[in-house]
Amino acid sequence: MLKTHNCGELRPHHVGQNVTLAGWVHRQRDHGGLIFVDLRDRWGIVQIVTDPNHAPQAHQQAARLRQEYVVQVHGTVRLRPEGLVNPRMETGEIEVLADEIVVLNPARTPPFPLFEETPVEESLRLKYRYLDLRRQRMQRNLILRHRVVKFIRDFMDAHGFVEIETPILFKSTPEGARDYLVPSRLHPGKFYALPQSPQQLKQLLMVAGFERYFQIARCFRDEDLRGDRQPEFTQLDVEMSFVKREDVMALIEELMIGIVENCTDRRLLTKPFPRLSYAEAMARYGTDKPDLRFGMELVDISDLVAGSNYGIFASTVTAGGQVKGIRVPGCAGYSRRQIDELTALAQKEGAAGLAWLALSPEGEVRSSFARFLTEEQVQAIIARMEGQPGDLMLFVADRPPVVAAVLSALRLEMGERLGLRDPHVLAFGWIIDFPLFEWNEEEHRWDPSHHLFTAPMPEDLPLLDTDPGAARGQQYDLVCNGEEIAGGSIRIHRREVQEKVFELIGLDVEDARQRFGHMLEAFEYGTPPHGGIASGIDRLAMLLAGEDSIREVMAFPKTGQALDLMANAPSPVDPKQLAELHIRIVEEK
Ligand code: AMO
Repeated sequence: MLKTHNCGELRPHHVGQNVTLAGWVHRQRDHGGLIFVDLRDRWGIVQIVTDPNHAPQAHQQAARLRQEYVVQVHGTVRLRPEGLVNPRMETGEIEVLADEIVVLNPARTPPFPLFEETPVEESLRLKYRYLDLRRQRMQRNLILRHRVVKFIRDFMDAHGFVEIETPILFKSTPEGARDYLVPSRLHPGKFYALPQSPQQLKQLLMVAGFERYFQIARCFRDEDLRGDRQPEFTQLDVEMSFVKREDVMALIEELMIGIVENCTDRRLLTKPFPRLSYAEAMARYGTDKPDLRFGMELVDISDLVAGSNYGIFASTVTAGGQVKGIRVPGCAGYSRRQIDELTALAQKEGAAGLAWLALSPEGEVRSSFARFLTEEQVQAIIARMEGQPGDLMLFVADRPPVVAAVLSALRLEMGERLGLRDPHVLAFGWIIDFPLFEWNEEEHRWDPSHHLFTAPMPEDLPLLDTDPGAARGQQYDLVCNGEEIAGGSIRIHRREVQEKVFELIGLDVEDARQRFGHMLEAFEYGTPPHGGIASGIDRLAMLLAGEDSIREVMAFPKTGQALDLMANAPSPVDPKQLAELHIRIVEEK
């Protein structure tokens, strides 16, 4: 080793020892007589001091050092003089008096300051990601992620799971996104698909008799990107045989609690995790991934305003729509402009407008609609909303999906404004009893709401023939702070049920055989009842780190346009390579 100690580990008990350190020049200060150099490595920062009377050459060398030079320092640890102790530094009680400084490598001036909390444009950070990753926050995030994955591996091993790698070059595994395709050189015109998840393979591992499988698996999905989505991401992928929904959920719940309690200082809001049916989550929060850190639930007032003189409310209810609202404490004083802002947000989410009612601290009503209603109707609404003086109530009248989307967005916005979304608090919850299918308006067929291997609830099996839209799946999602961080299901293990599902989603027998023949065949060789789940490690790490983008917990993420700005990928390739792959590019007009 080019070092005997790490910079960050030196303490008063090292005083008097000769040490060799190596790292980066964090800062250099010339105080006339003495030069101070903060030397940094992964473990922290230590102060080096050079004294021309002690080691003149080291002193001259120190004068030439610049930010981010890589240097090796030989010296002796000593206590800092009285009064110069720095309590904010872990190594603040000591310093190293240099005997010799060797420049291992000089460095260009970084394109952005690495060690100030000044915001840097993300594209610049991504272009120079290796410098961005030198920042303490990024190092902390990636080390946390490592701890979490290590905890997961130990936990799964202790619970009898085997980690098995599955191929990256495979066949399309539908998870609802577009596939990334890889052309085959050996088989002209044929393609591999990168797995959107190891879904089929893990089910086949159950047919193979492993009973308990897991993998820290890379998944690839070509979909529209957001802060919590990347084209390639990592899952903790799990599959178990001879289990019920409860068994999978109990395992993951124990794992999540273990991770939070062992790897972080975050506070778990509730354990055991609360459970909500999909219908309940939609009714109370307007979303199937509610942020459970705060209340502000959606309240239905449709029955109170049906037949009222407020046209929009009354006609919406008559047309089969809903009128629902949320109650925001302390915002009764909102100005016209502030309410216009919220109306714009509501419109962005699809609402025609926003109705509101403010109850002043003195109990006076100010409202966009109260004058159209009777005093009794207004009081009934306030009572239903459990309104208190000082509250602002926001209402949307529309079709149920629009009401849900708009109020869910307003609830998050107001929760944020009121400081109810504390990143130190983690509010997990299970969402269960999802509908098995969603109606695809464009293609006039059912789409699986999870994926096409999800089993229906046993009691809902007959509904596949009579009313598929009402059938619930044996599916479960784990949400935390408004993010979906895991999803899974008990699988179909009987061929006739699988074929029925294929039929409902409009996959004819020939199609199904083409795409999933290997699965259907496997299911005939003694398939155990099985089920599983996958958790997005990036999203989990993001929440645990208190970040709001998964890019902050990935070493080399892509941009929202799926670009790698550092290596410039994707990029054109040599025509020779294309020819070998039997590919010709069609220029877009
Ligand atoms: P699902 O598609 O719900 O299920 O994915 C499971 C979890 O993976 C994470 N995730 C993502 N994270 C980052 N970027 C993305 N583009 C992205 N897409 C998904 C989410 C999500 O909850 N095979 C099934 C699991 C199963 O049934 O066992 C599956 O992949 O946190």
